[in-house]
Amino acid sequence: MKEKNFYTLGIETSCDETAAAILRGDRELLSNIVYSQAEIHKKYGGVVPEVASRDHLRKIQFVINEALTEAGVHLPELDLIGVTQGPGLVGCLLVGLSTAKGISFGLEKPLIGVNHLEGHLFAHYIESGLEAPPPFVALIVSGGHTSLVHVREWGHYEVIGETRDDAAGEAFDKVGKLIGLGYPAGIEVDRLSKQGNRSAIAFPRPMLDEPGFDFSFAGLKTAILYHMREHPETSQADLAASFQEAVVDVLVEKTLRAADDLKIGRIVVVGGVAANSRLRERFQSSDSGVGVDVHFPSLNLCTDNAAMIAAVAHFHYASNPAHVLNGLQDLSPSSSLRL
Ligand code: KG4
Ligand code: ZN
Repeated sequence: MKEKNFYTLGIETSCDETAAAILRGDRELLSNIVYSQAEIHKKYGGVVPEVASRDHLRKIQFVINEALTEAGVHLPELDLIGVTQGPGLVGCLLVGLSTAKGISFGLEKPLIGVNHLEGHLFAHYIESGLEAPPPFVALIVSGGHTSLVHVREWGHYEVIGETRDDAAGEAFDKVGKLIGLGYPAGIEVDRLSKQGNRSAIAFPRPMLDEPGFDFSFAGLKTAILYHMREHPETSQADLAASFQEAVVDVLVEKTLRAADDLKIGRIVVVGGVAANSRLRERFQSSDSGVGVDVHFPSLNLCTDNAAMIAAVAHFHYASNPAHVLNGLQDLSPSSSLRL
């Protein structure tokens, strides 16, 4: 493979971001365009799948064109197309998949369906270079998932813990909504927490004292609801900060425990919630404390993007040609694809 000028187009439409990116070689990012539908879903207080898929259809071509233009790459120069196959909203995934199939068919270029969760892991791959390779323990914390993964090497993953109910991002969004913040509430909770007292309310730390690496966040939401009923005078900022501290405590503690158990000295935190400033601060301060080195992708690679999708596609293309399809082959959306 002529690494230098090998161009991969990544396409991501699994939820409410329409995204396209161009990668040169295995991880040189030439463009990374993300169009967020957040404004559209704001008035509904969450993502409406039907509305999301229609808007993907409206935007996808513009987003791809912008990615090509910014990269200075012409459509026929593409060598590979990678597209999110799942997990995600089926109608949304279909838009990305159909577009990718059309491009692959028209250009007669290979196509690879990508697992969105492996995508989040590859945000680290893009940025780490040779500096922080596997093995490591990955904490994937997004709107739809919370998993602890033993990454033995790129392409080989063992999920060692998962949430039993709500994902961490989902908890941020639901609690944010409960205390009166707009959608998407995760980032608002993060902002507001800076003005609050994180020890104001001692919310539970769910599953922290139980063995294993599973999580549960649904009960925390109920605890906050009860607290608000009993103490309506509590400020939004104190609620936000105390809730955030409870989630961060559990995530940090369980991840450090997993690294210790597996005798692995490196932790990588990815997914939308990895953008949380308190989570970053707490992990980074644990860094020196217990001798583990902790990595986070840059903020724009934590939340959904297509650069990570392109990187996974390139990796599988280079390491296992059996993954490669063409635009005529079956590539269906899989809403509950697992790592
Ligand atoms: O990875 P992502 O962009 O999409 C999914 O694959 O789900 O993650 C989105 C999630 C949302 O729940 C959002 O509220 C949360 O990440 N999020 C945050 C922050 N930024 C995004 N949660 C807490 N603090 C943040 N700064
Ligand atoms: Zn995601």
